[in-house]
Amino acid sequence: MLKNISFTPELEKYLNQNSIENLVLQELRDFSFKELGDVANMQVSPEQASFLHMLIKIGNYSQILEVGTFMGYSTLAMALALNDNGKIITVDHDLKTTKHATKFWKQANVLDKITLINEDGSKSLQQFKEEKFIFDFIFIDADKSGYKNYLELCLNLISDNGLIVFDNVLWKGKVTDPSINDKKTNTIREFNDFIKNDNRVDTTMISIGDGMTLCQKKKILR
Ligand SMILES: C[S@@+](CC[C@H](N)C(=O)[O-])C[C@H]1O[C@@H](n2cnc3c(N)ncnc32)[C@H](O)[C@@H]1O
Repeated sequence: MLKNISFTPELEKYLNQNSIENLVLQELRDFSFKELGDVANMQVSPEQASFLHMLIKIGNYSQILEVGTFMGYSTLAMALALNDNGKIITVDHDLKTTKHATKFWKQANVLDKITLINEDGSKSLQQFKEEKFIFDFIFIDADKSGYKNYLELCLNLISDNGLIVFDNVLWKGKVTDPSINDKKTNTIREFNDFIKNDNRVDTTMISIGDGMTLCQKKKILR
């Protein structure tokens, strides 16, 4: 018998209604759908936003890195979880979408906690590695073809007890359909296989939104 329940639109609505969403987050999400239509589905769901927020609170993480800002929704959810000293660096190469974020971050009083870098994710992470930056929470939600390289770079950037989270690992369920063999789906499959077998890290894959993998450097190598 399957342990996971199947999702229906009603159940998803119920889940979202029961995820507490800050008013500015709601406004930003509404704005992004008005502005971009279905493209706004690129941002994490309200329950994923709430989950990221809770992870940061539980871990008391204060130095956050995000790759994939988009309109700043997940950035805002994470910024709202930070303590007084907490900071987020968020990287996205798209100026058109990220330009909207600042207004909402300001409205939620977290603008001073956030640094937006409009650049290619790999380039920024490489630079952080050279400058020996250390983060305690990293959220990767950008180009899927870059995930493996992001993992390599992140292992140099994450603190020993830090957490790396990768989004979209279930790729709308396409990963299990053998008739689907497009490049992006195969890239996600390869990444999932790679990280599961990577003995440098402990991981857990969870079915929330489009699927997330949580990853931490192993304390003791197998
Ligand atoms: C799924 S969206 C991010 C959604 C956002 N995390 C949220 O939940 O609100 C992916 C973003 O990654 C950005 N992106 C894609 N490839 C990138 C790259 N190589 N470097 C930097 N950003 C990239 C895109 O411009 C897009 O805004």
